[in-house]
Formats: sequence, C-alpha cells, structure tokens
Amino acid sequence: MPICPRPPRRRRLQLLLLAGAGLVLAGCAEDAPQDTWQPAGPNAQQIDNLQRPVFYIAGVVGVIVFIAVFYCVWRFRDRGQAIPPQSHGKSIIEIGGIVASASILAVIAVPTVRTIFDLADTSDCSLTVNVTGQQWWWEYSYPVQPGIETPVVTSGELVIPTGECVMLRITSRDVIHSYWIPKLNGKKDAVPGRVQTLRLEADYPGIFAGQCTEFCGLSHANMKMFAVALDGPDFATWLSNQTEPAANAPEDTPAGDGQDVFVAQCVRCHQVNGLEDADGNPLISQAEDYLVSGAAPDLTHLMSRTTFAGATFSLLTEECRAVLLAATPEEFGPLYLDGVSPECLNRVQLEQWVRNAPAMIPMYPTPNADGLGRGMPYLGLSEEDIDRVVDYLATLK
Ligand code: CUA
Repeated sequence: MPICPRPPRRRRLQLLLLAGAGLVLAGCAEDAPQDTWQPAGPNAQQIDNLQRPVFYIAGVVGVIVFIAVFYCVWRFRDRGQAIPPQSHGKSIIEIGGIVASASILAVIAVPTVRTIFDLADTSDCSLTVNVTGQQWWWEYSYPVQPGIETPVVTSGELVIPTGECVMLRITSRDVIHSYWIPKLNGKKDAVPGRVQTLRLEADYPGIFAGQCTEFCGLSHANMKMFAVALDGPDFATWLSNQTEPAANAPEDTPAGDGQDVFVAQCVRCHQVNGLEDADGNPLISQAEDYLVSGAAPDLTHLMSRTTFAGATFSLLTEECRAVLLAATPEEFGPLYLDGVSPECLNRVQLEQWVRNAPAMIPMYPTPNADGLGRGMPYLGLSEEDIDRVVDYLATLK
C-alpha cells in the first residue's frame, strides 16, 4: 500500500518551525562579532549582568502567558456549544495582576537605575577621545592630555589601551548617527551641536566590531566602526607612530609620482601630515568647500589601519584579515602594529575606490544646487594615475 504524502499544511508549519529554529540558533554563533551577550569589557559586562536576569524573568513570564493563551484557545474552542454567560472583571485577578507586574518592574528598576548611573559616570577614565560622526564614517581625535603631547587624528578604527576606561566625547558634523560597539558598551547617539560621553573599556587585545545604529542617509548600512584594543606598551607604540608626519615618497618612483597625483587631486579633502606645497606650506584639506560634513578622513597613517572608506572595506586581503582575526590576544598587538604589508594589501578594492567611489557605496558626491555633496566623488583618474596613487597610499604607514 503506498504511503500517503503528508498534508501540505502540516508541511508548511514544519518548515516554518525549522526556519524559526534556524534563526534562533543563528543568534547563538560563538564567533558573532557584534553579540551583546558576549561582553569583552566591564561596561558591557555590567549591562549583561542586568539583561540576563531581566531576560530570564521575561522569558518565564512569556512562557506562562503563552501556555495560558494556548490552553484557553484549546480548552474553550468552539464546539458548537452555547455561549456562556458573559461577565466583566474580577477584582482579585485585576488587582493581583497589577501588583505582581508592578512589583517585578520595581525590583528590576533598582539595578537598572544603578547601571544607568554607573555607566554615565566617566570620572575614572584615563583617556579622552573625541568621536565625530559624519556621512558615512567616524573620525577619532585624541586631544592633548596627560600622555599625549601631539594631537592624533584617525578614522574608521578607534584604538584604545586595554584595561583602562576611555571616555568618548561623541558628536556629529551633519545628521544624527549612533555609536555602538556591542561587546564594549551600549549605544550613544551622535547629535550635531551636542557632545555626549560614553565610557569604553576592553579586557583584552582584539578588534571589536560595531555599526552606526541611527539611520543617517544613503550609506547608513555601510557605516561600520571598529574599536581596536592594544596592551599598554603596544598602545604607546601605536600612539607614537601616529604623531609622526608622513615622509615624502622618493621622487622618480611610482609612489613619488603617486604623491604628485595625490597633491593635485586628493588634498582638497584628505590630509596627510607632512605634505607641503612648493613654498613649504603645509597642504591642509579645505573640505568645507566641497563636503558640508567637514573634512574627509586623515590619511597620514592609512596603512596602520585595516579598513578604509568608513571601515566599509578591508585594507587587508581576506586571508590576511582572517589571520589577524584568528590571532590570540598575545599575538594580536604586534600583528596589528605591523600594519598593512604590500602582500596583504587589498589592492583590488582600494583601486576600485580610487577609480570610482560612488560606484561602490551609495552616496551623493555630486554637489546639489547649494553646492553641497556627500562622500568621495568620481575623479576620472587614468588607470596609470590610479596605480600610482595606490602605490603612494601604500607608503602611508
Ligand atoms: Cu551613520 Cu547611520
């Protein structure tokens, strides 16, 4: 006797349950880079200590409610019986329900308020970094303070020392963005005209990923961010390298020719510390003329980072990036400080970016009627110039 096929409706339900289970399990991946359930520092840990009991209590309440609803739906389903007498309200249940839920909220409020106050206090932080959101990248500037004599400006990757509280002073030059490194702390909005502080601390060296979490225009979804934590001595090495101006590329080399193209085409927006014009004056970007959001990223030490274009693309090839991400906390610092070697440079995408940036992420690089644009424009460089510029960029360690 042939076996009957399952009824299609039941099949659909099974597939739905399977897909649901898959989604739930996907959230449990061990190497999920933006998982708030895997804190890597004391601030995120404090949030985790709060969210776990709340999640468990809410989970138990949720299960009880679901069981009660399903029981009632099944037990009192329509079997053609007469409609029972209608009644409204039962004081004891209503008051009991209000008291029980209010009590749960009151109990949760105590650690919640304490956590909010603790995380708002930045008085114990030893380092200050100004964080500025722009369409569609983050600028980090390290102002002069104890331990920093020369200001440092970088972008895409925030570099911090491990085991120390870092105070971020977050703002925006255009629209509202939101700063979030899930493994290190909660979110903080970047609002034009306001400075909001956020404490950040990592327990061990590594790269901690995040992304802008406030819709901020065409490339919001491409606006990534990374916090890179280095041990104290490695952080000091990084800092001292960042304060160095870039050396001029030797003349009559591909990189030297690239520097000429860079000076002719790129310094309108991008800055490289140490570059001078023929009269010996520093070439400083005058981005306001073109981008309402202010300057484009400072490229002085581009190859000390691992990403470009608002951290959207990797400066490292896939293989080299995999090696860095797989490094143990002990191996990580020295590997990161090595920067991008010529063998590891993701030259293909960097060339594509220089060739035609607007083709790689959505933006509006052509100025509108008010003369305002956003993002890197199409420069119309020849293939040879593109090659040379990338040769030059590769020297910016
Ligand atoms: Cu910046 Cu979304």
